[in-house]
Amino acid sequence: MAAQLVVALLALTSLGAASEPDCKDLVKPLVLDSHSPIYGKWVFHVGSWDKPGLKKDLLSVNSSWVELAASSDSGVISIYWADRLNDGCLQGEANATITGMTSHTTVYINGHTSYHDGKYYETCADCLLSEDTTLLPNSQSKGRYLFLFTRTGNLEPSELETFKKQAECLKFLPEYHFGSTELCPDERETSAAEKSELDQTDTEPAAK
Ligand SMILES: *[C@@H]1O[C@H](CO)[C@@H](O)[C@H](O)[C@H]1NC(C)=O
Ligand SMILES: *[C@@H]1O[C@H](CO)[C@@H](O)[C@H](O)[C@H]1NC(C)=O
Repeated sequence: MAAQLVVALLALTSLGAASEPDCKDLVKPLVLDSHSPIYGKWVFHVGSWDKPGLKKDLLSVNSSWVELAASSDSGVISIYWADRLNDGCLQGEANATITGMTSHTTVYINGHTSYHDGKYYETCADCLLSEDTTLLPNSQSKGRYLFLFTRTGNLEPSELETFKKQAECLKFLPEYHFGSTELCPDERETSAAEKSELDQTDTEPAAK
């Protein structure tokens, strides 16, 4: 009798599990080191949030790209980011310190400071899946975003479906914001180009 009950319960649990996405397989955090597949330039494709209050900020971002680079210090990743907002481009640099599977970043924008804990997950090839927890100065979480970046900004429909399942596993709201691929220019290149133009003008005073 007891054995039958156990069998019945087992059958019920496995039935329940089968109807849910298999989150253990879908959500695998990446250990962050210099071999992590997170480096290079990435274009934002889609994002989600876990609290309604976070929606407005993300919707103000029309396009976004980031570049992650290993630094001379193995515990530090250097980040360059550029967001297109309604009223223009905003970009900046930050250093992230790494502890195991989490990156910690302090971002200064226009006199405001924000703190971010980042986690990265296994995802499609040529994709970057990052979970960003914004922390208030008292270390309380303001909430989480889930961002999917790709190399080109494009994504296959099946890959989008996987992202949605991963977001569900990570308890994000089933709402999404998609980025455009009208990216802000890389100001580092602009300033380098301006500088070399200036240098040329310096060495060719007769050109004018
Ligand atoms: C970004 O801006 C373009 C042009 O202004 C607009 O067509 C597009 O809908 C915007 N996309 C997002 C995601 O806001
Ligand atoms: C990042 O760290 C490097 C090396 O310590 C430093 O030179 C640079 O100014 C830092 N960048 C930012 C944005 O804090």
